[in-house]
Amino acid sequence: MVAWNCTPNNLLATSRHQVMAIPILCIVAIFIQAMFAEGAVKLGASLKPSASGQQQSWQSPGKNFSFGFHPSGNRGLYVVGIRFANINDSTLVWTAGFNGGIEVGEGGSFTLQNDGKLVLSNGTQIFWQKNTSNLGVASADMQDDGNFVLQNSSSGTVWDIFTNPTDSLVVNQNLIVNQSLRSGLYTFAMQPSGNFTLSWNNNVTYLNEGTPLATTATLTGQGIFKLSNSSNDSIWWARSIDYSYSSTAVRRMKLESNGNLRSYRWDTDLGTWQRVWSAVEDQCKVYGWCGNFGVCVYNDTDPYCECPSADFDRLDPNDATKGCRRQQDIAQCSNNQSMVRLNNTEFFSYPADYKLNSEIFTLAFQDCWQNCLKNPSCTASTIMADGAGTCRMRTNEFTSAYQTASISSTSYVKVCGSGRPLTPPPPYVRIVNKFTAIEIALAVIATVIGLVTIHICLWWICCRQNPRFRFRDSPAVYAPLDYASGAPVQFSYRDLLHCTKNFTEKVGSGGFGTVYKGELSNEVMVAVKRLEGIEQGEKQFRMEVASISSTHHLNLVRLIGFCSEGRHRLLVYEFRKNSSLDTFLFTSSEQAKALDWDTRFKIAFGTAKSIAYLHEECRDCIVHCDIKPENILLDENFNARVSDFGLSKLIHARAHRNISLSSVRGTRGYLAPEWLANLPITSNSDVYSYGMVLLEIVSGRRNFDILASERKRFSIWAFEEYERGNIINIIDDKLGTNLNIDQIQRVIEISFWCIQEQPFQRPSMGKVVQMLEGVLPMEKPPAPKHLESLQNDSSSSTSQTATSILTNSDPQTSPFTINDVLPANSSIYLAETLSGGR
Ligand SMILES: *[C@@H]1O[C@H](CO)[C@@H](O)[C@H](O)[C@H]1NC(C)=O
Ligand SMILES: *[C@@H]1O[C@H](CO)[C@@H](O)[C@H](O)[C@H]1NC(C)=O
Ligand SMILES: *[C@@H]1O[C@H](CO)[C@@H](O)[C@H](O)[C@H]1NC(C)=O
Ligand SMILES: *[C@@H]1O[C@H](CO)[C@@H](O)[C@H](O)[C@H]1NC(C)=O
Repeated sequence: MVAWNCTPNNLLATSRHQVMAIPILCIVAIFIQAMFAEGAVKLGASLKPSASGQQQSWQSPGKNFSFGFHPSGNRGLYVVGIRFANINDSTLVWTAGFNGGIEVGEGGSFTLQNDGKLVLSNGTQIFWQKNTSNLGVASADMQDDGNFVLQNSSSGTVWDIFTNPTDSLVVNQNLIVNQSLRSGLYTFAMQPSGNFTLSWNNNVTYLNEGTPLATTATLTGQGIFKLSNSSNDSIWWARSIDYSYSSTAVRRMKLESNGNLRSYRWDTDLGTWQRVWSAVEDQCKVYGWCGNFGVCVYNDTDPYCECPSADFDRLDPNDATKGCRRQQDIAQCSNNQSMVRLNNTEFFSYPADYKLNSEIFTLAFQDCWQNCLKNPSCTASTIMADGAGTCRMRTNEFTSAYQTASISSTSYVKVCGSGRPLTPPPPYVRIVNKFTAIEIALAVIATVIGLVTIHICLWWICCRQNPRFRFRDSPAVYAPLDYASGAPVQFSYRDLLHCTKNFTEKVGSGGFGTVYKGELSNEVMVAVKRLEGIEQGEKQFRMEVASISSTHHLNLVRLIGFCSEGRHRLLVYEFRKNSSLDTFLFTSSEQAKALDWDTRFKIAFGTAKSIAYLHEECRDCIVHCDIKPENILLDENFNARVSDFGLSKLIHARAHRNISLSSVRGTRGYLAPEWLANLPITSNSDVYSYGMVLLEIVSGRRNFDILASERKRFSIWAFEEYERGNIINIIDDKLGTNLNIDQIQRVIEISFWCIQEQPFQRPSMGKVVQMLEGVLPMEKPPAPKHLESLQNDSSSSTSQTATSILTNSDPQTSPFTINDVLPANSSIYLAETLSGGR
């Protein structure tokens, strides 16, 4: 469409003999624009649902968004709202009315009335309306950013849906203080304190995060959820797992009916929405998700809801999240009650909750449930494993519970009769009763012999005659021989889809891509990593894979195979069921106790050896580029297994064309200063990251934690304490008292050597190994220089520091990337593990 500018200024600027012609052209142009302009909606315009497919709609000029009716999922019913018009999906990002929109039948209509009111009716009755009649509405406009606005005669916005959101946000839509998204009983709101909250039923807040002075929450095109202050500086970030993917990707953020706030990216290849971020990582921590008396539990991978005992029934047999109800009300059996015990279970209680009905006090273990049993108004109780014997008694209020092995609290729930705990899975002990041990042994031997025979026969039939058969038709089974020889197995994309159940069981994610759990057809568990941002040719990719898989070290995770098909690039690793180092170092004291000093030293030493191997002993030197506790996996015996190495090479090939991408990888806090300065990255950069990890292993604290009392970065503070001779202050309290102080002091000194600002001052990884062993004499480390220079700005507010850096750097053009300039005190952290926690 030709755009005509008809302002007087323009007319004056035009030469005199054209002056007469232009007003006429302008009038014609305005007329044409009014007739055909997309986006513009005139007063009196109306939409109606259509039973036969194609729906009428108001489209934005660039055809990004459209406003119209869509089938609601219930037969013959429709909801009106805004959807993406450029993808084949009918997810609505705004609806008339909450909770998925108000349904109307085929006779329904949505009208912009002549008086400026928006009205949804089912033909005879108004179901929803916006009282916008006295605002001077002259037209409406469906815009390319997804906003639908009502305008007055001078095109001023008098009402829009961006300030009246329902349950979703689109890219660059701002949610400001006191605005909220709602979904069922759940609310996501920006608070005046600068935090955003997720809350249940307006009285229980189960997520409260952010930073003072923030006024606006936004989802950016890069997939970053950010908070900005009133001068529009970004002061808090949370990244999606695919945050560097593409700024033009179609994204949305939604407060789900399950109480989680999530963001999605449309995957054009698969034609589905990919979940790329969740505000609450552990769904069981969403208050009330399982309904009243529902207990949230995980099976292998997914959370689900169950009732506390067999004395309960589901309120809705088809929907476990609706909650549970006692089969017999406890009011009707006051003389015959008991408490059913729930191990590893906690009834949630949040500060706002205490004020309501819960009583909290300290009691001996047994008294906690006995008191509840005796107290007619008590319905359930939890004995907190907090060492203080805190007892939570619940009276008649909503009760939400979480059961998992890592919770050591025990709960009791009051029921009629003697109580029927949930039946455990059918025991196979009974089989043993029927057969003698010898019979079983014979059966096992026969089965094994049978299986081996079948295996040999199959191999003989297929693979011997055609050695390539295995790769083309059943690559999901790799021969043990291949594995042993270390040659990477090539998988087809279809096989990996199958073995990961269409990439459903996500076990970790990070800058290089997302990791999914899978099972090969020979029952070997694998971790499948879908690489993102790789644009290499097939040949080069294969060379890199060959180089990664030629690494063999006890302390490295093993690469089994790969897939390179079209645009798909995937790596298949052995699966480690144990967690990564961070889950032991930084979480509950109980898990940390498993890591005594000797174990920690073993992990530090194993990690150092494997990095030294990557740097010095491999055929090609491999710089890891992302050493951090999340990438140090632990096996059953707490041996360190470093993961994710070699991937930076795959990504780096792209760096020649787009320099800023070379520094996107790596994780804040562990990045060497040369990354920030965009200087060449060498193996010395890994030494820096390792030094930070070493300090964390000693202290049990994140190196970028800010000490509230001193407003200093932990590593800076640690060096000062070391200078003053107070190394005991640095050591993790959880390590107890009986310590090898000489060894710990040595480790602390090594870490200060490693985090020197100048790369050449850092020891090589091979030297670090020798220093750890104590065979290389060491001098006292100098102050890591950059720490001194950072000290000045750490005295000012950290969020200001971050702001000033952020405003100077545009992620699109500057060599500084988002990753590098994240505020040091924000809680954003990229979990990048092969088999880490959920
Ligand atoms: C509209 O809804 C009202 C109330 O639910 C109902 O009585 C009426 O029959 C509906 N009209 C149409 C045309 O569906
Ligand atoms: C139109 O709305 C804008 C913004 O609300 C306002 O500033 C302007 O005065 C209004 N114009 C008329 C003619 O009402
Ligand atoms: C805001 O969130 C932070 C965590 O990000 C929390 O420590 C702080 O207490 C919250 N502030 C308020 C006022 O709730
Ligand atoms: C876990 O539960 C989910 C949801 O109930 C179910 O779809 C999935 O199959 C279960 N997985 C296992 C391993 O039981």
